[in-house]
Amino acid sequence: MRIRSTGVMFFCGFAVIMMIAANINDGRAKASSGAAPTFSKDIAPIFAKNCMSCHRPGEIAPMSLMTYKEVRPWARSIREKVVGKEMPPWHADPNYGEWANDRRMTDKEIETIAAWVDGGAPEGNPKDMPPAPKFTTGWQIGDPDIIFQMPEEYTVPAEGAVAYQYFTVPSNFTEDKYIVAMEARAGALDVVHHIVIYVREPGGGGSQRGDIGAGLLGALSPGMTPFIAQPGTAKLIKAGSNIVFQMHYTPSGKETKDRSLVGLKFAKAPVDQVITTTAAWDARFTIPPGAANHEVKASWVAQDDILIWSLMPHMHLRGKDYLYRATYPDGRSEILLSVPRYDFGWQVYYYPKKPIRIPKGTKIETIAHYDNSSRNPQNPDPGRAVGFGEQTWEEMMNGFFDYTVVKKSNTRATASSGEFLK
Ligand code: HEC
Repeated sequence: MRIRSTGVMFFCGFAVIMMIAANINDGRAKASSGAAPTFSKDIAPIFAKNCMSCHRPGEIAPMSLMTYKEVRPWARSIREKVVGKEMPPWHADPNYGEWANDRRMTDKEIETIAAWVDGGAPEGNPKDMPPAPKFTTGWQIGDPDIIFQMPEEYTVPAEGAVAYQYFTVPSNFTEDKYIVAMEARAGALDVVHHIVIYVREPGGGGSQRGDIGAGLLGALSPGMTPFIAQPGTAKLIKAGSNIVFQMHYTPSGKETKDRSLVGLKFAKAPVDQVITTTAAWDARFTIPPGAANHEVKASWVAQDDILIWSLMPHMHLRGKDYLYRATYPDGRSEILLSVPRYDFGWQVYYYPKKPIRIPKGTKIETIAHYDNSSRNPQNPDPGRAVGFGEQTWEEMMNGFFDYTVVKKSNTRATASSGEFLK
């Protein structure tokens, strides 16, 4: 059997929106003047920064939160979700790591929203409204250098579980291509749960069982921020490769046709820092029926000094929590990422604020827990023993991460001069 990786690289980064919002937001979220905060003056800027990227027409959230009229009926629910920290969605434990795409709001922002709802959710003076933030329509990465589309439409049935669908498109690349940006776009937003793009190299490389991460180019969930490589780094697609779409569809109640696409941007020049996607993963586990906290561990040992650019835990519906730990050659150990309440619906790429430096010989361990009991409302069948499989009613244990190898010459200031001169 050929293992197809189901790494779902959802780009939930928020940087773009934050940058836009920052211009209009500074210093406006003040609730301290004694008067109850108003939507126009205090809340709209907070929503622009934290909510509207998803809560606007044509995006993944169920309702738009752009105007007072749209927001008002949701005030109670907004208070509950915001105070309960369910919205904006963010699942990493703040005690470990610092993330560039952290979506958490400040305590002050949360308090301001609560105070506004408690004060009757007034509109205030519409003249105080900040200008509506400008969102990029069309490609967020700018015009792609190339666009691949599913070769045909797929008809998603009105209901039932749909097996992952695979569509292969030849890249027709006659030379190796370095990819600096990638964005997948859903043909039909209401049925596309996620799109995984992977690459099958000529001769079958790129999706061997030996390394589940190999061949994975990335993926995304509609509405999320696309992949944009740090300067000097890129992902590599070899000449002659095929591009494979792995489509996870969730029926929406009515039959829907989809034909999704992916756009890529190329590096202008060859790049020496090639990003490798790999995973600390396991495929031999069995989760017993009814087990409420079944642990599965995996590990990976760094063969070079590396820099980790992102982490992406991936499990399915029984996934409960996920943790990455590094044990360094000197015996020190550190938690890199902890996701205490994993949610299959929110597959997230965690981008560290600074790439994580991992010396050669470091063991990266991943630890997952699964809830196969009837107390897990998402569990499709608590009566079944579950093992590895690519369908959502089977399980996965993939601790994906993207890394680059640190070149010897800039590893350490203490390197011998010979090494330095190379
Ligand atoms: C990354 C996208 C995203 C962001 C950012 C986001 N939401 Fe949501 N929100 C969703 C989605 C999708 C749902 C639907 C439920 C789900 O999938 O969890 C939702 C659901 C909700 C609901 C519940 C709606 C219902 O049907 O009961 C509320 C209320 C809400 N969001 C408010 C907010 C507020 C307020 C903010 C900002 C402070 C925010 N959200 C930020 C995507 C987002």
